[in-house]
Amino acid sequence: MTIKKALTGFPPDFLWGAATAAHQVEGNNYNQWSQWEKANAERLAKAALSSNLILSLKPDIQIAAADPNNYISGQLADHYHRYEKDFDFLTKMNLNAYRFSVEWSRIEPKAGQWNNDAIEHYKQYAISLKRRRIEPIITLFHFTLPLWLADKGGFEKRENIKYFVRFAKKIVSELGASLKYIITINEPEVYASKSYYSKEWPPAEANFFKMLSVMNNLAAAHNQAAVAIHKLNQFYQVSIAKSSAFFYPGNNSQLSHLGAAAGQYFQDDYHINKVIKHCDFLGINYYFSNRVYGWRIQNPNLRLSDLAWDMQPAKIQFNLARLYRKYNLPILITENGLADAKDKYRRWWLEQTIISLQKTIKNGVPLIGYLHWSLMDNFEWAYGKWPRFGLVAVDYKTGRRSLRPSGRWFGQTIKQIRGV
Ligand code: BGC
Repeated sequence: MTIKKALTGFPPDFLWGAATAAHQVEGNNYNQWSQWEKANAERLAKAALSSNLILSLKPDIQIAAADPNNYISGQLADHYHRYEKDFDFLTKMNLNAYRFSVEWSRIEPKAGQWNNDAIEHYKQYAISLKRRRIEPIITLFHFTLPLWLADKGGFEKRENIKYFVRFAKKIVSELGASLKYIITINEPEVYASKSYYSKEWPPAEANFFKMLSVMNNLAAAHNQAAVAIHKLNQFYQVSIAKSSAFFYPGNNSQLSHLGAAAGQYFQDDYHINKVIKHCDFLGINYYFSNRVYGWRIQNPNLRLSDLAWDMQPAKIQFNLARLYRKYNLPILITENGLADAKDKYRRWWLEQTIISLQKTIKNGVPLIGYLHWSLMDNFEWAYGKWPRFGLVAVDYKTGRRSLRPSGRWFGQTIKQIRGV
């Protein structure tokens, strides 16, 4: 099918947008991540020189990855102060939705002490989106903790959940007039596994049982926050943003079928089952597919992103169909995209995705919207600044932003789909 035929079939109120997260774009945050970056930048730069992944990447990426500065988020594009400029790109691309997160460490720098300037900042931020007729979709926790809470053990401790619920209540009471969609927690299992099992993210532990208990606590944190938010107003639409790759068998053996089904279950259902009663819709982040042989993942790797991720955008439809069949809730694609500094594949990715979404809707799956990751280049956690996910390119030296050709194409396509 060509993209021309895929321009129809989307409901008029379909949300077309892009996403970011506070620590990845704002600049100058002070939280458990910024602290960890400073302590680990040299080590990460050195490790890049012997990392098989980095060595398999292009020479310019290898050079960037060997520079300790790459691992320090620092000023970034100063989105905190220049957000209007960045919102202009949303308007330019004819988008009507934007997902962002609020930075807890700015809002509650000390336990129980609210920073009214920061709250006012995010109020104005959401109001600015509304004024532009862009639906603000808020995320309350996107991987960063204020230091006081990290010091208390963050989500390792069941008794700390109350701090998250208090924070959720405060934000929704303050910003709620501008909000409808609320994501409580971004990718709970990614956070738990990278921070407590694979040692990639702070506090960089390798403790399987701790990882499981953090996952359970994050599920409880979502559930309790959702109840509190609904008490403020039943109208709010609340979910987590669940990372969801597609698992499929590489051959017809029973073991491969079993392996793929088990992978899908543990990745998706294991966690979703714990929160589904407190979700009004499902937020889904889709980036990969995993081809399974027995218990091993071996991908065809026909097209690789700059992070060497196997790109199969069209397969998103299989996860959307399965998740709807199983959970019967409308789905919002809360993230989807690729690291592609040269903008070689982004337009193709978007095209394939839009066609796949059209098929999904035709097959009766209610989709709320599609949010591309990301609006702009940003800080890709332990990889630092070199992976470029933006529809908008950022020159970190000058702060200059420019719409990538794929972003221009996306904007034109959305204009035709929305008829605006
Ligand atoms: C996260 C983002 C991240 C993106 C690309 C998701 O796991 O929510 O913070 O930048 O994927 O890796």
